[in-house]
Amino acid sequence: MSDQIDVVVIGAGATGLSAAHALQQAGRSVVVLEARERVGGRLWTDEVDGVDLELGGQWVSPDQTELLRVLDELGLETFSRYREGASVYIGISGERRTFEGEQLPVPPAVEKAMVALTDELDELAAQMDPDRPWDAPFAAELDQVSFAAWLADRCDEQEAIDNIAMFIAQAMLTKPAHAFSALQAVQMAASAGSFSHLVDSEFILDKRVVGGLQGVPLALAERLGDAVRLGVDVEKVRWSGTGVEVVAGDLTVSARHLVLAVPPTVVPRIRFEPPLPSAQREAHQHQSFGLVTKLHITYDTPFWREAGLSGTVFSPYELVHEAYDNTNHGDSRGTLVGFISDERVDEVSRLDAEARRTAILTSLAHYYGEQALTPTSYYESDWTSEELGQGAYATSFDLGGLTRFGPRLREPVGPIQIGSSDVAGLGFQHVDGALRVGAELAQHIIATDTREV
Ligand code: FDA
Repeated sequence: MSDQIDVVVIGAGATGLSAAHALQQAGRSVVVLEARERVGGRLWTDEVDGVDLELGGQWVSPDQTELLRVLDELGLETFSRYREGASVYIGISGERRTFEGEQLPVPPAVEKAMVALTDELDELAAQMDPDRPWDAPFAAELDQVSFAAWLADRCDEQEAIDNIAMFIAQAMLTKPAHAFSALQAVQMAASAGSFSHLVDSEFILDKRVVGGLQGVPLALAERLGDAVRLGVDVEKVRWSGTGVEVVAGDLTVSARHLVLAVPPTVVPRIRFEPPLPSAQREAHQHQSFGLVTKLHITYDTPFWREAGLSGTVFSPYELVHEAYDNTNHGDSRGTLVGFISDERVDEVSRLDAEARRTAILTSLAHYYGEQALTPTSYYESDWTSEELGQGAYATSFDLGGLTRFGPRLREPVGPIQIGSSDVAGLGFQHVDGALRVGAELAQHIIATDTREV
């Protein structure tokens, strides 16, 4: 067994590295144990067929002030997503329309209903502290009703319902709108500043990081140096009032505090002695990942630009419900990024690879035309089969879970602090939230630790 250090961190994603960095800066001895052979967790840039692809998280928006601060501190540069020209929308009747600005080109009655729902969601989000959604005056009521039922109750324009649902269900929580509560939907909006922000792709998908967003964990890990150990899959944690022993194979690390910075779905892979209290175990069981397949499709040129298109496309009625120009900084080739979400992932995962590719490219051709059918490179990033995450983008609660388990979610258990972007308030499900949670867990240790440094 090793000598006791101050803090052991499990997980070298944005949360764990942000916690470790803050602790190291405060003079604490830290070791970070990461199961994978790389840092970054759900942030990963990799070269596929000669193209650098951001397989996980990639976008930065102006509300993500902690991420922007860290990018600045680490000296990482950003660039704007290509957005010149018209966007494309495919409506309920299958008709393709181009449009400029934020408002989708829908019939006047649908537009009116969408504006009313947007206003109502903005008002609810403004009344909520995203760190404490269970304290909102409407929390109990809205946590018992699904987002789909809530929308259907106040609107009879199906196309308006489908679009408003899309911006939270398919595009964010990656679950069908009947699978999470209206309260969880409002928290998603409040965590990004407002529902209007989620609808506005100019805002929410504003910038990318040159070289990829994995640059953040890579730069933090570089600062931490030898303190980060890769390929260490933690199996067991023994804990008491005075500290922890963390076990992975032959390695045992002894520390006075533990930061467990992994998604709630993978906490049960670790055996705790004694077991975690039932409140924590229940909370973890009621959080689950959505399903999303991120598509990376490269062409000889960004041909849509010549046709006056920005590359931004949406439709709740298409297999690929959203896609964007994702051409890398300084690259002459054109890359599209697209997403298939929730029940549509179930559908396509039943197809063999060739049939799936055909279905996906056909959906893209509905937006961009026939040229979309002949890419030079095609890649699907599938996070569902990752044992160390089990889905994307992040976890959310089932009906009633947020009010029932939320208040105890971030309570420490003896020397153990638990958190990830999945339990963030501001920046919920995003890297911004991961960095905030990491810093908060570190601050809690620094504030309660009596050891002199
Ligand atoms: P994360 O899961 O990244 O890290 C946990 C780490 O713990 C992992 O490295 C894992 O290997 C490790 N681990 C687990 N169990 C372990 C064990 N027993 N022992 C040791 N290590 C263990 N966000 C954003 O801001 N903008 C965006 O555009 C997107 N888009 C997006 C797309 C896709 C496809 C994905 C998958 C995700 C996004 N996100 C995003 C979300 C964002 O990437 C995510 O919220 C954060 O990166 C999560 O960081 P965490 O550190 O909290 O968890």
